[in-house]
Amino acid sequence: MCGIVGYTGPRQAYPIILKGLKRLEYRGYDSSGVALLHEGKLNVYKKKGKVSELEEAMIGKDVVGHLAIGHTRWATHGEPSDRNAHPHTSANGKIAMIHNGIIENYALIKQDLLKKGYTFTSDTDTEVLLNFIEDIQKNNDCTIEEALRIALKRVTGAYCILLIEESNPETIIAARKGSPLVIGIGKGEHFLASDASPIIEYTKEVVYVNDYELAIVKPDELILKNLGNEKITPYITKLDMDLAAIEKGGYEHFMLKEIFEQPSTIFDCLRGRLYAKEGLIKMSGIDENIEHLINANRIMIVACGTSWHAGLVAEYIIEELCRIPVEVEYASEFRYRNPIINKGDVIIAISQSGETADTLVALEKAKENGAFIFGVVNAVGSSIARISNAGAYTHSGPEIGVASTKAFTGQLAVLIMMALSIAKHKKSISDERYSSLLNELEQIPEKVEAILKNSENIKEISEKYKNASDFLFLGRGYNFPIALEGALKLKEISYIHAEGYPAAEMKHGPIALVDENLPVVFIATKDPYHEKIVSNMQEIKARKGKIISIVNEDDMISRELSNDFFSIPITDEITAPLLTVIPLQLMSYYVGISKGIDVDKPRNLAKSVTVE
Ligand code: M6R
Repeated sequence: MCGIVGYTGPRQAYPIILKGLKRLEYRGYDSSGVALLHEGKLNVYKKKGKVSELEEAMIGKDVVGHLAIGHTRWATHGEPSDRNAHPHTSANGKIAMIHNGIIENYALIKQDLLKKGYTFTSDTDTEVLLNFIEDIQKNNDCTIEEALRIALKRVTGAYCILLIEESNPETIIAARKGSPLVIGIGKGEHFLASDASPIIEYTKEVVYVNDYELAIVKPDELILKNLGNEKITPYITKLDMDLAAIEKGGYEHFMLKEIFEQPSTIFDCLRGRLYAKEGLIKMSGIDENIEHLINANRIMIVACGTSWHAGLVAEYIIEELCRIPVEVEYASEFRYRNPIINKGDVIIAISQSGETADTLVALEKAKENGAFIFGVVNAVGSSIARISNAGAYTHSGPEIGVASTKAFTGQLAVLIMMALSIAKHKKSISDERYSSLLNELEQIPEKVEAILKNSENIKEISEKYKNASDFLFLGRGYNFPIALEGALKLKEISYIHAEGYPAAEMKHGPIALVDENLPVVFIATKDPYHEKIVSNMQEIKARKGKIISIVNEDDMISRELSNDFFSIPITDEITAPLLTVIPLQLMSYYVGISKGIDVDKPRNLAKSVTVE
């Protein structure tokens, strides 16, 4: 939700900011802007639309300066427009600021400022905060840093802000609460960004700023303080990421690259953890906390979106293999109801970005109540990873396409290993089933590879149905969450209305939608209840619905019932979601691009939802 980037040092700042904004564009692309400080003068440029539109508008402008901040926006307060774009400038024109997050009590502050005669040029909460800071500075005759500290003690909400002022030509002041901030440490220069992608090509040494911390950043000095003005020693970590991971690498879109990366990302997730021949799973986050996990009376899984779907698959698997009751909650619901959390309950938090605001706040709440938090996270060093008591990274690499693909299969792989490990320790699984599942899991990367080799088939099917106005996705058991995921992917990337349902539940309502125009996607791989889903297909066929099925290679019956089918290799029903989701990801991609949609940046969405 909004990307921010800053630079102070000997280089020209604008090219660094522009490149950084392009890397962070996945976080929001309603508008973008940049503020440069040169010879004591602020130059601020902003533009509605994508970063490329800003770049075009900047041609011929004065972009000289060794200090700059830039922002790419996902609108919260105020429509996407030039005037609501960041950076904002304070009423006296001397301070420029960018902000990622929401100031919840902005309305009250704004009322006070209006009474004092302040006027506003935008509809944003950011401009309110900025003028609040200016007002505090004026009234207290203090430094901008002091004014910011006072202001932040009075605001509620989430923020990562960067501000610069005319009288301070080398300094960026930054603060965070609830929205991420990384500072890259170069030689006589510093880089600031919402994630490490704008920083990686300049330095691998970074500091992750924590909530309620302020950073005073000059070319050769980084001072971290808390809101009480006490200095904190920066903790420097080394980035484990390479540039190729954040580039398209010859693919037309990040989404396609990320779909095709799955054989290797799943392999990387299993590598060093799964030893099928030896019958071992080694995961330090699990091994070191196994007592907590096997003695859990209950596991609650908290997540949003695609990660929530991974949680639903995990619910089925953990209950089946470990015999521990599992509840799966939308983080946004969990945080506002009054859930019963008992000491000793285990909460599994699933998140690609590790920054999703709803999930993060839900975890804070659960932690206060004594729950043990296990994070299944992709982004290393992210807030959810850090708040968790223990966890396992998915090792899927940076996911840049807004639609989550490789992170989802990474989550499934981790959750399956976790369930197997708990089950083995609890002795709730037979040795035979355990080794058979380990073997199945080990073979998944090559089976995904085999599916991807047939991507042309799914492209042809997608082409046939791209003009449908609605889709229904149906699956049973472990494939029911995959039906939900297929529908979510299609909605996000193609703007076609789609719903996912448990196949049999379809009779209780959605069947009314079925006619000769409705494509119904069945995820119908073989499991002990396979003939049930075949009956559901018959029911759709009898009503002239168009059946597209994801079936196993040897499933002639389902094929015959289908108007179109896509065959996938056979695997265990527990590992099947790792395969069945792949054609659905491809289908949403191909439908999306055939409709001319920018699938990496579909409308209204942002990759990392750091506001409620
Ligand atoms: O980063 P997270 O996994 O916490 O994000 C959760 C959702 O926002 C995310 O999965 C979203 O639904 C994706 N756009 C789905 O493709």
